[in-house]
Amino acid sequence: ALERTFSIIKPDATARNLTGAVNAVIEKAGLRIVAQKRIQMTRAQAEEFYGVHRERPFFGELVDFMISAPVVVQVLEGDNAIARYREVMGATNPENAAEGTIRKLYAKSVGENSVHGSDAPETAKVEIAQFFAGNEIVG
Ligand code: CMP
Repeated sequence: ALERTFSIIKPDATARNLTGAVNAVIEKAGLRIVAQKRIQMTRAQAEEFYGVHRERPFFGELVDFMISAPVVVQVLEGDNAIARYREVMGATNPENAAEGTIRKLYAKSVGENSVHGSDAPETAKVEIAQFFAGNEIVG
C-alpha cells in the first residue's frame, strides 16, 4: 500500500555535507521526498521526539547529538514506505548494516548513524505531525 514515513538526516550527515548523497539513495530506492526542511532542533523537540527512549542510558547523549548541528526532516512516500526505508537505511549499528545501505555507506557509529526512519504506521503518523503541517506535505 502507498505509505508515508518520517525521516531525519542527522547531524553527523548534514555536517559532512551528505544531504544530497543520502537523498540520492532514498530516491534511487523508489521513495519520493514529499516534504523536507532543514532545521536546528531544540532540546525540547529532541526530548519529545525520543521520549520513548527517556530511560535508556544513552538518552542524554542522543539528545545532545541531535541538537549538535542542523538536521533535515522529511516525509517519504512510496509503496510500503516504512519497511522499505528501514531496508534502505540498514541496521541501527553501521557495523551490522548491509552493503549499499545509507548507514553502511555513511554512518559513523550506532549513535551517529546518519538517518532515522519511523518503525511503524502509528509512529510515522505521530513523528510526521511533530514536524509538518498537512499543507507542507505535497505528494
Ligand atoms: P534512531 O532510529 O534515531 O532511534 C533511536 C536512536 O538511538 C537510534 O537511532 C540510535 O542512533 C540511538 N542509539 C541506539 N543505541 C545507542 C547506543 N548504544 N548509544 C548511542 N545511541 C544509540
